[in-house]
Amino acid sequence: MKNKIYITTPIFYVNDLPHIGHSYTSIICDALARFYRLNNFDVLFTTGTDEHGLKVEKAAEKSGMTPNNFVDKVSKNFRELLQKIDSTNTDFIRTTENRHEIACKKFWNTLCENNQVYLSKYKGWYSIKDESFYQEKELIKKNDSFFTADNEKVEWIEEESFFFKLSEWENSLLSYYENCPEFIQPKSRRNEVISFVKSGLKDLSISRTSFKWGINVEDHNNHIMYVWIDALVNYLTSLGYPNFKEKKNYWNECIHVIGKDILKFHAVYWPAMLMAAKLPLPKKIFAHGWWTNEGKKISKSLGNSIDPNKIIDNFGLDQFRYFLLREVTLGQDGDFSEKALKNRVNSDLSNNLGNLVQRTIKFLFKNFEGVLPSQLNLNSIDNYPLKDAYLLFQKVEKLINNLELSKGIDEIFVFISKLNKFMDESEPWNLIKDDRESTARVLTELIESFRVIGIILQPFLPIASKLLLDTLNIDNKLRTFEYLNSKNFLNKGHKLNEPKALFPRLE
Ligand code: MSP
Repeated sequence: MKNKIYITTPIFYVNDLPHIGHSYTSIICDALARFYRLNNFDVLFTTGTDEHGLKVEKAAEKSGMTPNNFVDKVSKNFRELLQKIDSTNTDFIRTTENRHEIACKKFWNTLCENNQVYLSKYKGWYSIKDESFYQEKELIKKNDSFFTADNEKVEWIEEESFFFKLSEWENSLLSYYENCPEFIQPKSRRNEVISFVKSGLKDLSISRTSFKWGINVEDHNNHIMYVWIDALVNYLTSLGYPNFKEKKNYWNECIHVIGKDILKFHAVYWPAMLMAAKLPLPKKIFAHGWWTNEGKKISKSLGNSIDPNKIIDNFGLDQFRYFLLREVTLGQDGDFSEKALKNRVNSDLSNNLGNLVQRTIKFLFKNFEGVLPSQLNLNSIDNYPLKDAYLLFQKVEKLINNLELSKGIDEIFVFISKLNKFMDESEPWNLIKDDRESTARVLTELIESFRVIGIILQPFLPIASKLLLDTLNIDNKLRTFEYLNSKNFLNKGHKLNEPKALFPRLE
């Protein structure tokens, strides 16, 4: 039986147009999904839109539409973005769907049955932007108002509310973090969560009565569920909860990829609620960093949000994808600028990879009619490009399993640099003058190395790697990771196709 993995993005608030931050989460997850599929895993990959709550209700009001019409319209932008990035998600959840309402109600009722919910009154601070409750000690006071660390003004609310007994779960959470050190990543985020929980948890208000746009609490129709409960349950809805059936097996293998801003909800509230509902916890929560735009925080008020559609149109999808995945270590913040993107693309993709492939295959066509000229004898392989080629996957796999995406990609490009060095040192353009056989061997080793690169780069550069594998004339069935080993090398006489430029230089 195949190994399973379940990869999730956060579901996106539809009060806004999609921007680079949304595409970042989706591209990380898509790269992982493609990687695991090629590595013979059964992959479920879900994403979607978070359509309830006060924030969305207000946005609908502002645009003069009913919430229903509004969410239909804006949710579409997110689905279109996924098409634009050629995302391979297996599900797209909208929290306004009937299957999700069923899941939320069941989850809520389970918490009630397990004596985890009580009715009381909430009095305290609320941030509409984060859809989050705050304790006064977490806020900054300016004049007579209070603000979050992100400078968002909070409002005081007082209303009847159901509460979840979050405070009862403090010790269970702490011992879970202790026993499963891999549960929250990166490590710095894990430490943050541990100290947040250690500082004391209060029971969590989980319903609102002052507005309407959400899922009703059964038998208490004036209450709607707190939008974060509604949102988090999407990860279960996608598996068919409450009728999990065969998909339940995926839940233990779930990786939630999220932005660092929504860590508290995923690493504190969610596991506590799952424990309270007597459900297993996901395997991992990975919090990535935030992108700034030329050094500035991306925000609606600054009007500096970056439209991923435009970047893709101007620079190309693989180029955008590569930049986001390679430029920063997953978990750290990154700064987006067109200049940095161009530099990264030109140095790694055009110069290092594209030129090497182009000049090698052109040379092969000029001198050997595009046919692999030599038979590899892998028993006696002692040269560095091929030995390294066949070891590359092990190294990359380990890094990707650790969610070290940029390091994994870097490892591939270190190998590509070595191939360039090998090409330059072998000087086939001189060698051919008096040693055709050695030239044939050098070219064959390079082309076989390209086969390995083409296969391994597929999750990160889907378009260019397809072009490369098509040029190398590799059968579609022979492109998964099991063919990365030395047993599947290309034989003498294998015919290539004319090369096309993989990455034209960006000026
Ligand atoms: N709806 C909630 C998530 C519910 S999941 C059960 C939400 N939505 S969001 O649309 O505001 O954010 C979605 C994701 O985009 C988050 O992971 C967030 O971190 C990410 N990003 C939003 N802006 C970002 C940047 N500028 N940079 C990187 N990612 C950021 O939160």
